[in-house]
Amino acid sequence: MIDHNQGKLILRTGRIACYPVAVNYKIRATTGADAEAIQSVAMRAWENTYRDLVPEASRREYLDKAYSLDWLRQCHQRSDLRGFLLDQDGQPAGFAMLSLGDPAEDPPGAVLRSLYLLPEAQQQGQGKKMLDAVIAAARAAGAPWLWVAVHGELKAARAWYEKNGFAYDGPAETTMGHEKVKMAVYRLPLHHYAKH
Ligand SMILES: CC(C)(COP(=O)(O)OP(=O)(O)OC[C@H]1O[C@@H](n2cnc3c(N)ncnc32)[C@H](O)[C@@H]1OP(=O)(O)O)[C@@H](O)C(=O)NCCC(=O)NCCS
Repeated sequence: MIDHNQGKLILRTGRIACYPVAVNYKIRATTGADAEAIQSVAMRAWENTYRDLVPEASRREYLDKAYSLDWLRQCHQRSDLRGFLLDQDGQPAGFAMLSLGDPAEDPPGAVLRSLYLLPEAQQQGQGKKMLDAVIAAARAAGAPWLWVAVHGELKAARAWYEKNGFAYDGPAETTMGHEKVKMAVYRLPLHHYAKH
């Protein structure tokens, strides 16, 4: 559902009843006012995702920079970035950040910079709904591709992207704190992507 009337973009709403406790959820565009919510989800999701892959000091160093409240607020001033928040029963449970990219860049396309759900919000189909919202925004901006770089050792996330139509493009390297990290780059052609 898209509701522009209340100054809020509600991208998708629904009700998940597959689990013992039914959950009302909504995916909406973020603003700078969501910086605390994004930061708190990132802290917990990162601990859960990377605790066996990235030493704590490096995780901390990276989070302190990439998820500082100042930086998150600045990101929301930029016209090339779009944030998405998963709200479950009024509580933030996940977020995504999309960079729309520069069409003159080689290769051209949008980049999914982050997608993190709290552990208890995973495996309920909501990551896929977040991804659908991200893809719709990238497509609406005319991006020919959606790119994502995943930690090379995150086998579950890599399989998840592959299941959702992304093709492996090759390796890349980045740094998390002091750690050099091998990443796996994936791409999704937006013009061929068929929703399923
Ligand atoms: C990777 C991630 C975004 C995937 O989102 P998710 O919501 O957990 O994934 P989905 O629910 O869409 O799909 C996962 C599985 O749940 C299943 N599923 C979908 N709907 C379901 C439902 N209603 N009830 C139960 N299971 C369901 C899917 O079939 C899928 O099964 P399979 O992959 O085991 O075959 C999420 O797990 C996450 O944030 N992980 C930690 C951070 C991370 O790795 N991020 C990616 C790096 S950028």
